[in-house]
Amino acid sequence: MAHRGASGTCPENTMAAFERAVELGANGIETDVHLTRDGRLALIHDATLDRTTGEPGSIRGLDFAEIREKDAGSWFGQEFRGQKVPAMEELFELAKGRDLFLNVELKFGSEPYPGMEEAVIAVIRRYGMEDQVILSSFNHDSLALVKRLAPEVRTGILYGENLFEPWNYAAGFGTDALHAWHGVVTPEKVKGADERGLVYFPYTINEAEEMKRLIQAGVAGVITDYPDLGWECYREA
Ligand code: G3P
Ligand code: CA
Repeated sequence: MAHRGASGTCPENTMAAFERAVELGANGIETDVHLTRDGRLALIHDATLDRTTGEPGSIRGLDFAEIREKDAGSWFGQEFRGQKVPAMEELFELAKGRDLFLNVELKFGSEPYPGMEEAVIAVIRRYGMEDQVILSSFNHDSLALVKRLAPEVRTGILYGENLFEPWNYAAGFGTDALHAWHGVVTPEKVKGADERGLVYFPYTINEAEEMKRLIQAGVAGVITDYPDLGWECYREA
């Protein structure tokens, strides 16, 4: 699963990165979503524009049209000049009809975005892509809300610490998958999750040996900046 698209070789969370992930044969694309002032869903990792556009401004405080004026590609390389912050719908257009899974991380910035879960669910339903999407978040209340509003939409709990029995914790939120920091994922944990119908998608692995260890442990997929390396490791593991 391509983390922020093929972000090892293209500017993260741009259409260039998403299209490159498809070219590299990724099974899935991970991305991050924030809600703009005018209620649009913008695909960007940070709550502010600074790092990836070189300009100030919070996503929460701007309309989508203002965000679209920014160059989200040049910071990575001049050949990407003019890449924009995509709307969530653009990624859905790319994925629709393809054998491509979308892992949309619900971000929250300094505080949750009221109405963001409803807005994301509305897009999933409008595109009829319930089977192609999983929503993940470090804000587990947000995932519980998704399950209440749209039980048909899959969710994945993001966590970085070593939980004792993560499946018990996840059950409280009706979760379908465990998106754990890779360092806490062991074969025993994968087996325990599997017995309870849960799968692991560890993040973010860019190193071959660790990738092979996780594939051998039986994870459903690895989240990586380098989907081509993922396939190489899959063949060798
Ligand atoms: O999906 C896991 C990973 O994306 C979480 O961390 O900071 O890259 O959004 P981050
Ligand atoms: Ca993310």
